[in-house]
Amino acid sequence: MSSGQWEDLKGVVAMANAERIVSKQKQISISEFFEKNKHFLGFDTLQRAVITAVKEAVDNSLDACEEARILPDIKVEIKRLEGDRIELICQDNGPGIPRDSVENVFGKFLLGSRFHAIRQTRGQQGIGITGVLMYSQLTTGSKTHIVSKIASDSSAVHVDLGLDTRKNRATKSNERRDVWFEDGEEVVHGLKIRTVMRAKYQRGRQSVHQYLRMTSIVNPHATIKLTVRNREGEIIDQGNWIRTTEHLPRIVEEIKPHPHGIHLGQLQRMLKEAEERKLTSFLRHNFSGVSMRAAREILQLSELDEGRTPVRVKADEAQGMIEAFQKVKLLSPPTDCLSPIEEILIKKGLSKAIDSRFASTVTRKPAVTQGQPFQIEVGLVFGGDLAGDGPIEVLRFANRVPLMYQQGGCLLTKALESVDWKQYGLDHPGGRGLPKGPAAVLIHLASTNVQFTSEAKEAVADNEEVKEEVRKAMLEVGRGLRNHLKKRTQRKKAQEKFDLINIILPEISRKSSEMLGREEPDLAPVITRIMDAVFLEDSLTWDKETKQTICTITVYNYTARARAYTLLAKWPEGEGVRFSENPRGGRKEATGLWAWRLDTLDPGQSTEIRFAVEGLDRGDWTEAEIFFRGQKEMIGATKIDEKLLDEMRKIEALAVAEAEHAKATVVGSMERLAERAEPVEAPDSAMSEDTEAATEVAAPEAVAHEGTDTEAIQTTDTDWFGLKEGEEE
Ligand SMILES: Nc1ncnc2c1ncn2[C@@H]1O[C@H](COP(=O)(O)OP(=O)(O)O)[C@@H](O)[C@H]1O
Ligand SMILES: [Mg+2]
Repeated sequence: MSSGQWEDLKGVVAMANAERIVSKQKQISISEFFEKNKHFLGFDTLQRAVITAVKEAVDNSLDACEEARILPDIKVEIKRLEGDRIELICQDNGPGIPRDSVENVFGKFLLGSRFHAIRQTRGQQGIGITGVLMYSQLTTGSKTHIVSKIASDSSAVHVDLGLDTRKNRATKSNERRDVWFEDGEEVVHGLKIRTVMRAKYQRGRQSVHQYLRMTSIVNPHATIKLTVRNREGEIIDQGNWIRTTEHLPRIVEEIKPHPHGIHLGQLQRMLKEAEERKLTSFLRHNFSGVSMRAAREILQLSELDEGRTPVRVKADEAQGMIEAFQKVKLLSPPTDCLSPIEEILIKKGLSKAIDSRFASTVTRKPAVTQGQPFQIEVGLVFGGDLAGDGPIEVLRFANRVPLMYQQGGCLLTKALESVDWKQYGLDHPGGRGLPKGPAAVLIHLASTNVQFTSEAKEAVADNEEVKEEVRKAMLEVGRGLRNHLKKRTQRKKAQEKFDLINIILPEISRKSSEMLGREEPDLAPVITRIMDAVFLEDSLTWDKETKQTICTITVYNYTARARAYTLLAKWPEGEGVRFSENPRGGRKEATGLWAWRLDTLDPGQSTEIRFAVEGLDRGDWTEAEIFFRGQKEMIGATKIDEKLLDEMRKIEALAVAEAEHAKATVVGSMERLAERAEPVEAPDSAMSEDTEAATEVAAPEAVAHEGTDTEAIQTTDTDWFGLKEGEEE
């Protein structure tokens, strides 16, 4: 839920309270509020109620574990009872909740610690765990049983909780302290909830099973287990998703709001609560991206005196400030409040739930829309066990929370559909709707403020900047898929041709030599001429002993001319990930892209490049992507797009400059940033000298490119390593 919506919801609750005081006849209790708003609280149907309940509990478990830096072990058990009631048990190994807080956590609506914190959390999306207790009580009259154990206590708290809806308070019963055993072992810390509710367990795309499967994909560090039983106690559905990494998501920072994303109500509340005595300090202390200069400009534009006391600012004046916010140049908000999953972990997460042959993933750099930082990640898997006859599976996530409803109306789906997937090797009839084929696409939007289409929070609302980022990410993974498919067919065809020539040609040669009574000729040059191709073969192997991933690349020249190439390999460069062996040297072309210049390859010759990478785990890197610079097509590799490579370097240089700038001055202006960024825009001039010019068979494009200034390139429908979208191959 957006903070704006929370403001509204809190407004409604506050109004309800106020009304209760004003008029005794017209009492609106929280239970009535809940009853009236079940649809957007997620409890409107029996099928949905159980999903929402599991979601509230599991999201809390994941959040609590993440904050306490514990690798989560989560167990969900559902059992059908008499009638349309079910029993739901959710258990975690998190920090637990101290005895004195249990009542508040489960008995007070909107207690959530995160309403005001601007940072990416799962918690922002739901009504909270109290909603589950409320639903249980309203539909079955039952109490919810809680067991909570914190590490510093010697025993666990066991208690039954009900809700006093008039007073917005929990009522306790049967409280006791006792040691907590699970499967014969004492639990050191954790939380368990057992509740009974009217609900219906259902399988399929909108089910608890699917919700947990998706959750486990975007939380590769979590182990999640599901067991569903019928009335007889037989297991009718289950899942067991075991963690594929021990890396916990990094701790996200809280940030102050950015003026571009603030509503009037929010600003008024901030003004009212302000401790500063002057408006300039109020603006500088409470917002991100506001320098002294910007603060003065804002006040000038809204005709407010710098020395005015914030608490005294009136509504129309605050409105003036809101308008001024949009007119003044401000620094972008910081982006370390986001928690992307990151490329390798997306692969690991996907591998937990989907068995596929090929995976291509991308984590885009953070971007900003309306003062709110956001970041897009996409993963595409293809082949393997995936069904190929229907539309691809779309897995949508906002801040690591699965979105399971309203797929068609969601911006994330629309962005996916806007790509012409035929270009990337998927069946896409009419270029509309979802493409078909044995593929699944994961889309993750991380943001401090996800804008949904409705309070139900199931579909992301339209936003051009977000859509464009998703589209770019799609093109990037699509390109990976296309290269993979192209490589596969090219290699297959070449292999067939090679096999055929190697069988037929010697046979013809033998027969004709026999007939003519001559000696058999040397066939190698002939075969080479007929093949007329340069091949590249690559392999990635995992060395158990040394924990290295070894990449071997071999290039064969089956053409009649000498050939010269530069090879470039994409590799998962990152923190702690290094080359441990690289005897051929070469050099870095961009982050995650290494280049080696090959000596001239004579006809019939081959050459090998071998390097080893440390700091990865087994399965982290399973498919090499190789590019080349050179004239002749190379089967098994893709020609690098120099323009896009340049653009990539420019963006990197800019990011470095920005990071330096952020370090150097906390407050600054956009203009100064632009000044600093300018000189680094031209890429390192030494770069081009080494490209192709030295060899006689230089690629004409590369030579032509060498002398030209870096052009400004439209990045809307292009990407780093491939062709422009729409370009024929
Ligand atoms: N499983 C849990 N383990 C530890 N703390 C929890 C757990 N569930 C809830 N909490 C605490 O209770 C608070 C309120 O939870 P909730 O009502 O769901 O709101 P929110 O998740 O938005 O913060 C959480 O912020 C957290 O501090
Ligand atoms: Mg919650």
